Amino acid sequence: MMAQTWDSEGYDKNARFVTELGAPVLELLAPRPGEHILDVGCGDGLLTKKIADLGCNVVGVDSSADFVASARRLGLTVVETRASDMDFGPSFDAVFSNAALHWMKDADAVIGRVARALLPKGRFVAEMGGHGCVKTLQSALIEELDRRGYDGHAANPWYFPTVEEYGGRLAAAGFEVRYMALIPRRTPLPGDVMGWLTTFCGCFTAVLPEQDRAHYLECVRERIKPELCDATGKWTADYVRLRFAAHLAH
Ligand code: BEZ
Repeated sequence: MMAQTWDSEGYDKNARFVTELGAPVLELLAPRPGEHILDVGCGDGLLTKKIADLGCNVVGVDSSADFVASARRLGLTVVETRASDMDFGPSFDAVFSNAALHWMKDADAVIGRVARALLPKGRFVAEMGGHGCVKTLQSALIEELDRRGYDGHAANPWYFPTVEEYGGRLAAAGFEVRYMALIPRRTPLPGDVMGWLTTFCGCFTAVLPEQDRAHYLECVRERIKPELCDATGKWTADYVRLRFAAHLAH
């Protein structure tokens, strides 16, 4: 599978709502001034900056050089690495993540690194895409690749677990899950769905020759239109979130 590439400008235009809708998970984190917090998959750092502005010592981690550069321009400390490769010893009161863990199919490796980065009894508070997230979009992306003779499932970069699945992984890594919920959240998009498709679907288009990509996305758009576009032309994405707070048992 090709890696997703990120472009801060496109993200700002088409996906800023992802940061804005991060308020409930930030509330669940309840950061206290002076705490040391690690933000996994910090993206362009807007939410990370909010945590820093509350008086916390924050370190961000992201694997995208473009996002890391944007976050550093906000004055944040950011390490460029995949979460499954990060190498922090027990030094953080909390690990936080918003809208990033569903890009990490190596979930056990990531959770293991998170556990290692936490101080005893430290907390892991996160929100990610949960089971059924963007089902209509995902099915259309896969089916339109399959129809062209490619393996749509193999191109799919997302992991949208159930409560039982992710809860089980956390428990196996020594966490006690205090809160976990699957939250259906149909989300109005800021414009045409094509902005969402070009921002988030690089792993699907990457398997196609360059000249076929625009037409492929047009076909996906046509396929999902009856379900995700209303009579006035407003698009909605069929998001489902998995939100949790887990504490190290020791
Ligand atoms: C998100 O940013 O939350 C997201 C991105 C791609 C698919 C589903 C969710």
